[in-house]
Amino acid sequence: MSSGESFESVFGRAPEFVSRAPGRINLIGEHVDYLDGCVMPIAIDRAITIHFARARGSQSRIWPEGFGLEEPVSFETNNFYRQGPDGVQWLNYVFGVMAGYQDDGLVMPAFDAFISSDLPTGAGLSSSAALEMSVAMLIERLSGMQKDVVERALICQKAEHEWAGVPCGIMDQFASGAGKAGQVLHLDCRDLSFDYAPLPERVSVLTADTRVKHALGDGEYRKRRESCEEAAGILGIDSFRDATLAEVAAAKEELGDLLYRRARHAVTEMQRVEEFSDALRKDQSDRIANLMRGSHNSLRDDFEVSCEELDVLVDAAYEFGPEQGLIGSRMTGGGFGGSTVSLVKSETAAALKEYLEKSYQQKFGRELNCFITSAEDGASCESL
Ligand code: GLA
Repeated sequence: MSSGESFESVFGRAPEFVSRAPGRINLIGEHVDYLDGCVMPIAIDRAITIHFARARGSQSRIWPEGFGLEEPVSFETNNFYRQGPDGVQWLNYVFGVMAGYQDDGLVMPAFDAFISSDLPTGAGLSSSAALEMSVAMLIERLSGMQKDVVERALICQKAEHEWAGVPCGIMDQFASGAGKAGQVLHLDCRDLSFDYAPLPERVSVLTADTRVKHALGDGEYRKRRESCEEAAGILGIDSFRDATLAEVAAAKEELGDLLYRRARHAVTEMQRVEEFSDALRKDQSDRIANLMRGSHNSLRDDFEVSCEELDVLVDAAYEFGPEQGLIGSRMTGGGFGGSTVSLVKSETAAALKEYLEKSYQQKFGRELNCFITSAEDGASCESL
């Protein structure tokens, strides 16, 4: 049954619209979006899709596919509450976005919605940002309130902060909203200006999902942010964007080993993004390889957000090597599990996939969820 047909079988009539918001893979610029840095993600060809229609009365209903529900979740469209720890957690992403539009004076029209997804959750591919973005598209379509891509991403980020309790940066929501087919987004998280760099032709993006689940809400993410704030305080700077490696090195003693390494990651990663952007535009594979390796090592050693599964996969990719078409590989997203991303010549992408699957199976006795991804357009909404 298609998702449109599923909508009909749940709600007894045809859907009127469909919104779709993709997940993202970040190529470089990790853990710097909340430090005013630049990031270079792509929106991918896996997404959250919502089939929806206006509803009569004041109640809205949502059916998320694959959650084993017996009936749709229903709620008062303009009177809803944050779900506590025992509540339905995914609803907070929906309510959070609705609350953001309400803050702007919107009275939400009631709706029925069927949510489906081919985006793995907990894989570091931003399924929560995709859910927020697809809800934002739904709200705008039903209400006629039109936001631009920056305002929309900010509303979704606020939902994540205030309703899901995750103090994330802006990258995921922005990439889901502003992705472009065949292009890598280059987003400046300080002033939210952005442009695009083309993905070189005949280069494939290979995602390897470890299936080790990380929970950003578990406190480590927040701790990284706090450490960076503390380090910035000691350095006397407002933002790491203004810091140089020499300044960080000069304050090594005051910072202490841990804060020094956190700060070093922030500053070197921001430099790597700029170099990567240049190398990508010039299609310089050697530089790309070094920068992605450098980013991974920094996340592993200085920022300490990697894990054995991710390290094994990145090492395996470099073993496969440039001779066989590898361009670069690194962990992607918040870390503590999730996925790696590899850039590889298209003709050997299938061979690298096989190599990573085999290496992972040998080392951990578990299956890797590995797939070739492409850079796609960001969130959209259509009438049916
Ligand atoms: C998560 C957050 C993003 C970003 C990455 C790390 O995906 O949601 O804002 O901080 O981690 O780069």
